[in-house]
Order: sequence, then C-alpha cells, then structure tokens
Amino acid sequence: MNQRPNGFKYTKAHVMYLSMWKDGSWDEGRLDPSDQLTISGLSTALHYGQECFEGLKAYRRQDGRVQLFRVIDNARRFQTSCERLMMPVFPVERFVEAVKMTVKANIDFVPPYGFRESLYIRPFMIGIGDNLGLRPAPMFLFSIIVSPVGSYFNGEVKPVDMVTTDYDRAAPNGMGHVKVGGNYAASMMSQVHARRAGYADAIFLDPKTHTKIEEAGAANFFGITKDGTYITPKSPSILNSITNRSLKYLAKEKLNMNVVEGEIFIDDLSHLEEAGACGTAAMITPIASVTHHEKKHIFPCHETMGPYTKKLYDLLSGIQYGDIDDPLDWVTIL
Ligand code: PLP
Ligand code: COI
Repeated sequence: MNQRPNGFKYTKAHVMYLSMWKDGSWDEGRLDPSDQLTISGLSTALHYGQECFEGLKAYRRQDGRVQLFRVIDNARRFQTSCERLMMPVFPVERFVEAVKMTVKANIDFVPPYGFRESLYIRPFMIGIGDNLGLRPAPMFLFSIIVSPVGSYFNGEVKPVDMVTTDYDRAAPNGMGHVKVGGNYAASMMSQVHARRAGYADAIFLDPKTHTKIEEAGAANFFGITKDGTYITPKSPSILNSITNRSLKYLAKEKLNMNVVEGEIFIDDLSHLEEAGACGTAAMITPIASVTHHEKKHIFPCHETMGPYTKKLYDLLSGIQYGDIDDPLDWVTIL
C-alpha cells in the first residue's frame, strides 16, 4: 500500500475471506481477490435484514509486527448477533483463524506505526438464496473485508459536537444490544440530519422514556464526573461495546477510578466534566457539547481532550499499538 488512508474511507485490499453455510454446515472457507458478491435478489439479507457484522482492527506495532485487539470478544459477540437473527453461528476458533488469515494475506495494507491508523476488519454474515416468504434463509455467507483506515470522526483528538435525535435506533426489547444491519438502517436518518446540521453524530436516547442518553450512532457514550468517576449508560438497547468494556477495566484497575454503569439524564449533564464516544472505529473521541432540543450543553473540557480521557486514550492506544503491556491477553500478535 503506497497511499495513507483518508479518514474512514474504503480502500480495496488484496483479498476477502468467504465461507458458505449450506445443508447444515460451513465449508472450509477461502480467500478471494474480489470484493464483490453475487447473490440471489431474493436473499433475506436484502429484504428482511438478515445481516449482522463485526468491526475490529489490526494495528502495526513499533517493531513492525501486526496485532489484533480482542478478536475473541468480537467472535463471541458475533455469535450473539447470529443467534438473535436465526443465523447459524460461526465457530469462535474459525472466526479467529479467518481474521488472522485475511489480515496476513493483506498485511501490507496495515498502515505504518505512528499515525493513529490501522487496518479495519469487517466480518459479516448474510442470509442468501431465494426466499420470498418471511423465514430464515436456506444458505448463509460469512465474509471478511478489510480496509486501511484513519480516524472516524475527523481526528479523534479534537472534541466534537453531537446532537440528540427524537428517533430511536432500537426498540426497548429489540436488537440494540447486537450488531445487526437493521439498527444502522434505523439510525442513518438521524446521523445524516446531525451531520447536515454540522454535528459529528446523533445521540440516541432511551427508547422508553427519551430522557436518558443511550449511545451515538456508531459508538458508546461515556462521561467523567468532577470527582473522576467513569460513568456510562447501562441499557439493554445499546451495543455492548468492546472498547467501552476495555475502558471500564482500565479506568478501574489502572487509574483507580470509580466506574459506574447507570443513568445519564439528558437534562442533567452538569455533573460531567468530560464526555466521549468510544468504539472500534471512533476509538475515543471527546465530545465538546450535546445539543438537545435547541439547548446546547457544553462540557467544561471542550477545547481539548480532558485529563482523564487523555489518560484512558493513552493507555488504550498504547495497548492496541503494542507500546504498553497487554493486561489480560487482549492482543494477538500475528
Ligand atoms: N455502539 C455502536 C452503535 C457501534 O456501532 C459501535 C461500533 O462497533 C460501538 C457502540 C462500539 O463497539 P466496539 O467498541 O465493540 O467497536
Ligand atoms: C465500528 O466501530 O466497528 C463500527 O462498526 C461502527 C460503524 C458504524 C463504522
């Protein structure tokens, strides 16, 4: 790869991974130089949203080697998504092997160390085959496509402005906790409206009462109180973010912070000194302000990343790029 990635835009790499499920089992899987799929126009993925995906990254270390971050956790969450959508699970060990194989075959697309860039890995599963009526597909395709990427929200380090939306991305007992395409289809209008109005992303409120922050369209939300407590929403309709899980651990175990999973009321953000969005694509992006129904709340740390967020950012990115020892076997060196 000669060119450096331009934000979160797609660049085709050498190969994608493909495996097909038919008659009750997965085939052995293969790499393919194309990134195109030919499927029936009646595939359930196209009509009934039988699709789920994952997102993880491969990072170039200073010593030139490449490592994955928490791939097993992505493999497990992927299984939860598949089960919720009545899709066959892809075995965890096979998921890990397929990710390794795909990254190794595209290794020169992993950006160099030192630029906060990485290789984004997008495993996904779709229901395929002819299916006119509403029922699970007769066949499934598991694939992995990779692309070098830079930052998702125009430079992770500068705080961004966000705005709440009155739409919901997920229903109270729906699929918000799993990573399925339908949640993203539901969130797209809010995201586009937010961006058109000059915000980085939309913030969704809890679908039952619309009074509490849930998460952004592409990342979880966290806040840090004046006394250094890391607080993040607890709700059955938000995605169980692996980045957020990592931050909760690092805040508690490495920074001795108090960690709370609780309610963050949109009308009462005054206790938060710092706020941020976190996720694989978003990494840790500080949030400068949240606008709710024309009222803009600006967090005290709005010009640069706040001190606690910065410590968390340095710890997490240090582990992801191999500069800091991995505390819990999160990293897989290829
Ligand atoms: N929430 C949503 C809606 C997301 O799309 C993502 C991205 O994956 C996240 C949260 C963060 O999850 P993770 O840290 O596992 O990437
Ligand atoms: C990720 O962070 O991996 C995601 O899937 C978010 C996506 C909307 C880019």
